[in-house]
Amino acid sequence: MAKDTLFAGIDIGSTAVRIAVGQRMPAGDREGLHIIGAAEVPSEGINRGAINSIEDAVSSVSSCIEKVERMTGAPVSSAWVSLSGAYITSQVSKGVVAVSRPDGEIREEDVERALDHAQTVATPTNYEIIHVIPRSYVVDGQAGVKDPVGMTGIRLEVDAQIIQGQTAHIKNLTKCVYRTGANIERLVLGILAAAECVATARQKDLGVAIVNIGGSTTSLAVFEQGEILHLATLPIGADHVTADIAIGLRTSIDIAERVKLKHAYAVAKDVDKKAEVNLRELGSDSDEEVSLKYVGQIVQARMEEILERIDNELKKIDRSGLLPAGVVFTGGGAKLSGLVELAKNKLRLPVSLGYPLNVTSITDRVNDLSFTTAIGLIQWGMNDAVAAGRGGTMAFASSGLIEKAKRLFKGFAGGRN
Ligand SMILES: Nc1ncnc2c1ncn2[C@@H]1O[C@H](COP(=O)(O)OP(=O)(O)OP(=O)(O)O)[C@@H](O)[C@H]1O
Ligand SMILES: [Mg+2]
Repeated sequence: MAKDTLFAGIDIGSTAVRIAVGQRMPAGDREGLHIIGAAEVPSEGINRGAINSIEDAVSSVSSCIEKVERMTGAPVSSAWVSLSGAYITSQVSKGVVAVSRPDGEIREEDVERALDHAQTVATPTNYEIIHVIPRSYVVDGQAGVKDPVGMTGIRLEVDAQIIQGQTAHIKNLTKCVYRTGANIERLVLGILAAAECVATARQKDLGVAIVNIGGSTTSLAVFEQGEILHLATLPIGADHVTADIAIGLRTSIDIAERVKLKHAYAVAKDVDKKAEVNLRELGSDSDEEVSLKYVGQIVQARMEEILERIDNELKKIDRSGLLPAGVVFTGGGAKLSGLVELAKNKLRLPVSLGYPLNVTSITDRVNDLSFTTAIGLIQWGMNDAVAAGRGGTMAFASSGLIEKAKRLFKGFAGGRN
């Protein structure tokens, strides 16, 4: 296995730092990604997706890097890194240019100029652009063009989704990674990385919402006709469920978390009235029988609130109950048992869990909903390599790849500053 085909994704979450390392399947094999290492460590110094202690965060990231390096035997010298949705804004912007060639044939260069023009939007102070994603093009008034290169026209317009991140947050995050000695190839909005990994092109065409339930935040991305239709981050996540259980049962957060992981079911009416658990079995120092139906009621109430807020986001774009490919849940919070049943009812849509697609692995981490963002980052890496024409022979050393990909994708490559 050549080390020079490796890609690494680092997902710095509020519960855990996770790293996945993978390589593209060698040419001739089925197109896909092979994960050769994945590691996680509890995150310190990170709260609600924001870094509140650089020192602690650096040590979490470093120890996660060391862990994955021991697994793969290859140093992680550069990586694709996720950016949390809490410090993000996004808007749609138009760019218009005149086609430069006298014969009117549109070239890559014209597309780049149009994308550049789209970026001249008002960026809120203290924010910087991290993604400029073309949604569709208009050539001489013909709308809905997917790829204008090679077409003929006089006027080229692009409709682009501009995603901006808060500068201070970006600086803290990038500092955290650089301090470990690793380089950043590109920052990617976490939900876009997850979406890359769990949804098929067909689902994105038909209309699908990808929802990542994290510890402190829930982020969603809605796709239709292959384009991003809507992005949102809700400041509420699966840790709120744990906190509610702790309050409801008058117990500690640690015990409440264990109750949730081992015994909670999100549809209370389906829980046996007589089912009970003794908190002593979960580490409490006193005997206390709690009703699992009551636990179910607590969990259901909070999950319904989260689902309602997701539905509100769908209402904003007139897609409430109207997404043919439904909702795909991922992230650690999606592991809650009973979530799929509850969500189907509440959202009136098909609901499934988003496990990584087209991925093989030597570790079962790959089938873990918490790892989808880290794995999706590797897929971004592979796409960047393809776009840069390097055919995946990119080593863990950044050697201008990102500069090339950046020109093509107009993405942000966390520059050292
Ligand atoms: N088996 C499980 N059942 C129910 N909930 C679970 C399970 N496993 C993990 N969780 C919950 O998932 C949440 C953590 O999710 P995840 O690891 O995706 O968050 P994160 O990425 O660290 O956080 P964020 O994305 O908000 O920064 C925790 O609240 C945890 O209790
Ligand atoms: Mg997360």
